[in-house]
Amino acid sequence: MVKFKNVVKAYGNHVAVKNLDLEIPEGELVVLIGPSGCGKTTTLKMVNRLIEPTSGSIFIRGRNVMDLNPVALRREIGYVIQQIGLFPNMTIEQNIDVVPRLLGWPAEKRKRRVYELLEMVGMEPEIYAPRYPNELSGGQQQRIGVLRALAAEPPLILMDEPFGALDPIARESLQDELKSLHSRLNKTTIFVTHDMDEALKLADRVVVMNQGEVVQVATPEQLLRNPANDFVASFIGKNRLNGDSLQSVVEIMLPDPVTVHPQMGLAEGLALMKRKKVDTVLVVDEERKLLGSVAVETLNREHKWARTIGEIVNQDPPLTTIRSQASAKEAFELIVGENLKYLPVLDENDVLVGLVTRNSMVGALASAVWGDVSE
Ligand SMILES: Nc1ncnc2c1ncn2[C@@H]1O[C@H](COP(=O)(O)OP(=O)(O)OP(=O)(O)O)[C@@H](O)[C@H]1O
Ligand SMILES: [Mg+2]
Repeated sequence: MVKFKNVVKAYGNHVAVKNLDLEIPEGELVVLIGPSGCGKTTTLKMVNRLIEPTSGSIFIRGRNVMDLNPVALRREIGYVIQQIGLFPNMTIEQNIDVVPRLLGWPAEKRKRRVYELLEMVGMEPEIYAPRYPNELSGGQQQRIGVLRALAAEPPLILMDEPFGALDPIARESLQDELKSLHSRLNKTTIFVTHDMDEALKLADRVVVMNQGEVVQVATPEQLLRNPANDFVASFIGKNRLNGDSLQSVVEIMLPDPVTVHPQMGLAEGLALMKRKKVDTVLVVDEERKLLGSVAVETLNREHKWARTIGEIVNQDPPLTTIRSQASAKEAFELIVGENLKYLPVLDENDVLVGLVTRNSMVGALASAVWGDVSE
């Protein structure tokens, strides 16, 4: 389907892509992965001629792209750019519809297609079609970016870090969606990422690049078993949040969060929060079992009629909690995915053993998420 033959792209004397040879069969999902600046976007953009190679050739179904009209070529290729890139003053329907409209599809067919695509990703068309991009969450916008690339049913799709800006939970659900779309539609896809977990999850084959060169082409399984060299091995290691390298949630929690008993008076509670400089306290019973939490706003609001913490502990929504056996990664995903301020850690008897906050997480997780930052 796509064939790179000795493709080179040089900017002055900096070579962004060196002698690239790669063949992608029909229907395959290939993931290009490598550190920032290794030439992934450049490689992608040479396929739809947003960038012209310095030398070498690229063929799509046997046709040299340089012999094709670039505009016509791009209409045949779905493209999801590195930033989502929706048109802000067009509705979601118009955004998805861009290429079909350029191709002159009849209005009724276009509308049907937009509705079908929105349904495919579980976004109610009646609700979302008339909205504007800024009325959607980041994850929803990225879905629309993907749908736009699929709209005209192109035989080839290029995706440049389409889920890069998402939190881990939204990202995983979009990956699942993409995977199921791909297994249903079987469109040849070139997908760029620098996240090894994402590559291993999505790819039929992974192409590892470094400094403009292909270092290894392999299935996820082969890559894990036989990394071609130290670079690939360390890239797999550094970028993967795999179970064994991961810290336990206990290592990233504050061991001694501010707690109160239900018998405590409201004035005393307020004074304690002021003294400890916290805006929420956890309420525990005699055995330190977690009963709930009280926010300072609730205290202020209810102090006219209530006397003890116990009377107002159920005013705030139930807390999301995590078990002390969980990993730091699970805590991270919960906090980021559900936008929590903090996450109480309970042992198997529901006894409060600590509290993960955004701050307690950041330092501890930086090295697991981004690799050794000092490198
Ligand atoms: N227009 C340009 N002029 C000069 N150098 C460029 C230009 N575009 C890209 N480069 C260089 O080419 C190299 C490859 O860039 P490219 O955008 O392909 O990287 P990438 O692998 O997509 O990186 P990232 O993961 O950060 O998106 C980089 O060193 C970059 O600085
Ligand atoms: Mg890039």
